[in-house]
Amino acid sequence: METSWKDKSVSEQFNLYNDMLEDILGFQCIFNLIEHNQNIRHILDYGCGPGKVSERLAQRNPHYNIFAVDESQEMIDIASSIRKHDNISYHCIHNNNLAFIDSNSIDCAIICFVIINNAQRNQIITMLAEVYRVLKPKGQLILLDSNPNATGISFTTFTNGERGIRYRSGDKKKQFLKVEGQPDLILHDWYWSKQDYIEWISMTGFESIHITEATIGHLPQKARVMYEQQYQFNDWGNEVTIPPFIVFHAFKSS
Ligand SMILES: C[S@@+](CC[C@H](N)C(=O)[O-])C[C@H]1O[C@@H](n2cnc3c(N)ncnc32)[C@H](O)[C@@H]1O
Repeated sequence: METSWKDKSVSEQFNLYNDMLEDILGFQCIFNLIEHNQNIRHILDYGCGPGKVSERLAQRNPHYNIFAVDESQEMIDIASSIRKHDNISYHCIHNNNLAFIDSNSIDCAIICFVIINNAQRNQIITMLAEVYRVLKPKGQLILLDSNPNATGISFTTFTNGERGIRYRSGDKKKQFLKVEGQPDLILHDWYWSKQDYIEWISMTGFESIHITEATIGHLPQKARVMYEQQYQFNDWGNEVTIPPFIVFHAFKSS
C-alpha cells in the first residue's frame, strides 16, 4: 500500500495538518540557505503538495519566481486555488519529467518530504537527475525529509515510523500526522537511510553535501521565543533534543 496523493481526501487532510515543526526546524533552514545567496531568483519546488512552502517563499521576496510541481492533480488544484500567487506557477508533472523547464535555468531546487513517498531507487535517481539538468551550474539543491535516525519517536505533531521497528532501506514505513479534530493522517511511506540520500545526491553529480539536523533546543533563545509567539505554543516534546528532520544541501558542479 502507498499513500494516494491523487485521492482528494488525503490531499485535503494533508492541507489541514499543522506543519509548525516542519516550518520551524525545516523550512526556515531552507529559507536561510536561499536568502544567503542574493542572486537566487528562479526556484523549483519539487513535490510542492498544497503549496504551503512555495507560498511562504513567495511572500518572503517579491523577486522570487517559483515553479511548483507535483504529480498529484488534486494537490495542484488545492495549491492553485488557495495559494495562488503571481510569482508561483503550479504544474502537474508525470514520470519525473520537467521537459517544460529549460536546462541550466533554475537557481535553486527544493524537495520537501518527497523522497520518502517514492518506493523505487531508480525513480528517485531519475528525479534528482532531472533536477540536476534544470539547475544552473553551481545551482543549489536543498532536500528536506523526515529524519531516518528518528523513527518511532513521537514528536509534538507527528511520529515517523513505529516504535520498536528497525527499518532497512526500502522498507515500508507509516508516518502518523496529528490533524486537529480528526483521526491521525497515516501516510504510507518508505524508509531510506542517510547513506542512501548521500549516495543518490552524489551519484547524480551534486557536490559539497552539507547536512543540517535542527532541534528546538539548539534554536537561539530569541528565535525560540519568536516562534512560540507566532504559533502560540511552548509545550515542546522530543523535538527539544532529537532532530525530527534532516536537510541536505548540495551544489551542481560549475
Ligand atoms: C508529504 S507531501 C509534501 C508537500 C510539500 N512539499 C510540503 O512539504 O508541504 C509530498 C508530495 O510530493 C508529491 N510527490 C511524491 N513523489 C513525487 C514525484 N515522484 N513527482 C512529483 N511529485 C511527487 C506528492 O504527490 C505529494 O503532494
